[in-house]
Amino acid sequence: MCKVKIAKALALGMVVSTLLSATAFAAVSTEAVKGTPVVDGTLEDVWNSAKVIDVNVKQPNSVPDEPATAKVRAMWDEKNLYVFAEVFDSKLNKDAKQQPWEVDSIEFFIDENNSKGTYYDGDDAQYRVDIDNIRSGGSGAQLDLFTQSAVVKTDKGYIVEAAIPLRRDAKEGQVIGFDSQVNDDTGAGKREGIVGWSQTNEDAFANPSVFGTMTLAAAGSAAPAAPADDTSSNPSTGDASVLAYAVMAGLSAVTMVAKKRSK
Ligand code: BGC
Repeated sequence: MCKVKIAKALALGMVVSTLLSATAFAAVSTEAVKGTPVVDGTLEDVWNSAKVIDVNVKQPNSVPDEPATAKVRAMWDEKNLYVFAEVFDSKLNKDAKQQPWEVDSIEFFIDENNSKGTYYDGDDAQYRVDIDNIRSGGSGAQLDLFTQSAVVKTDKGYIVEAAIPLRRDAKEGQVIGFDSQVNDDTGAGKREGIVGWSQTNEDAFANPSVFGTMTLAAAGSAAPAAPADDTSSNPSTGDASVLAYAVMAGLSAVTMVAKKRSK
């Protein structure tokens, strides 16, 4: 009787921990479509086949109930990863005396060989563009080559389009690490809102292992773009399959324990 209870508790524990760990490492993934856009902040036709990801995961130090979020599309050619971000920010704020990440801005993180290391190595980089189209970066940024970006203010916030320079020639089928982050000053003169795509602990600036993955796909092969103002959650995340995997792993753990006990 007691043994059965212990076995049940054990099985339940295994299911819960499998679920938790699978969720914690639920890497999100997306695709960039092949092409070369004009970097001007306009969503021209070439962007229509790009997937859209939601940068809306609140980070631990994010204060506002509704921090600024973004929808980001990506495109690639041999030399650059192009990003087109629609940022939803009800009030644009920037205290020019602040550090660049403390003002309304969006960041992009890349790991060209998707090595997912826990610190920045030679092909990892952090880039940022603020509402005044001021470009900046953190670890690994090639700021001398980060010269193309455009910002367009909209009634919902702002659009940032930028060309992120790549260190090696990109190839179709290549998988890179990618993340993004929206910094939101809601009027306090400093950053209060922080949301990300894959990261959950506002550490993408230091730890590429938390990035999601992005496959450099063929021209026009990605799913059609969602409408610009569709704020529904991102279908390109892998959460459903991770959950299915976790449930299966949990079930097999239960079966294992049950079999052992019945022997
Ligand atoms: C982070 C800051 C960090 C900065 C470095 C930002 O994304 O949120 O904490 O100091 O990047 O560039």
